[in-house]
Amino acid sequence: MSIVNILAIESSCDETSAAIIQNGIVLSNLIATQQVHEQYGGVVPEMASRAHMQNILPVVDTALKNAGVDKKDIHAVAFTQAPGLIGSLLVGTCFAKGFAQALDLPLIAVHHMQAHVLAHFIDAPKPQFPFLCLTVSGGHTQVVLCKDYLDMQVLGETVDDAAGEAFDKVAKMLGLPYPGGPLVDKLAKEGDARRFPFPVTDMNGYDFSFSGIKTAVLYFLQAQKKKDPDFVANNLKDICASVQYTIVAMLLKKLEKAAAELGIKEIGIAGGVSANSGLRAALTAAGEKNGWTVHIPKFEYCTDNAAMIGITAHYKYLKGQFADLSVTPSARAAWS
Ligand code: KG4
Ligand code: ZN
Repeated sequence: MSIVNILAIESSCDETSAAIIQNGIVLSNLIATQQVHEQYGGVVPEMASRAHMQNILPVVDTALKNAGVDKKDIHAVAFTQAPGLIGSLLVGTCFAKGFAQALDLPLIAVHHMQAHVLAHFIDAPKPQFPFLCLTVSGGHTQVVLCKDYLDMQVLGETVDDAAGEAFDKVAKMLGLPYPGGPLVDKLAKEGDARRFPFPVTDMNGYDFSFSGIKTAVLYFLQAQKKKDPDFVANNLKDICASVQYTIVAMLLKKLEKAAAELGIKEIGIAGGVSANSGLRAALTAAGEKNGWTVHIPKFEYCTDNAAMIGITAHYKYLKGQFADLSVTPSARAAWS
């Protein structure tokens, strides 16, 4: 096979990322995380778009340099077309279109959630099909049946908050800075997960709901603080451990249900929340119990990154699935 270099761009939320993929191998993967949102306790869409505009050129330039590839040796340009913040998506889409038009290259439009699943195919050992993936991030929570690289079906998803959002919102109630998920994880390690039982919400089929636990924690904290104003400070580790335990239990319940009902033993997790140590431990334990082969991508491929956009584009390139210049980004495009 001749050499095919793909420039991939990810700009759906608050990471500006560019990667160079050569025949399915990642040569470089650069991620510029926007710090501007920290002081606001969440991503501010307008600021994210502006930061993408400032970051995109240097990030693409450095990705090319780190890969040792000249822009004249690029064969296709891939970008995240959906879903995400529309202003953020627009920056990546317009940049990709301009780059492709200037160098007369084909464009490849990538669905961000499909890319999170295909992040498992960047490094070996790669999952066998059929493969079941739990994608858990700040914006999404999905159980995906992956029959082939580009043949996927969302079996279930959250009907309200995403798992990462639940972690971050609870963290905010506890006075922790944004994004609070990693801090909850850190504090939970030294806490008692059984100390405060929170309700496990069970939805139909493979769907999830995380708004219940968020409200339950809110009311619980309000009641406890009336009795002891220092309740949070005095019980922080146990609260974090108990919340994490409950969120992980809800995630694992649906994953185990889907795996059992479909008879699948190739199981993976992806997205930022797959960094959670409680989720990783629970997945490993469930894997041993059920005889699963468990797949967890490298951390830099779990959170938002352009390498996963590039690997998806690699498979699309092989199938000749190109976009034309009329392609537009979409905040909520359906899975395709
Ligand atoms: O995939 P990601 O980087 O961005 C998108 O949302 O697409 O995921 C970010 C989310 C945030 O909600 C963050 O708090 C959560 O992943 N997260 C964690 C951990 N690390 C990141 N949540 C719990 N435990 C962690 N260790
Ligand atoms: Zn994502």
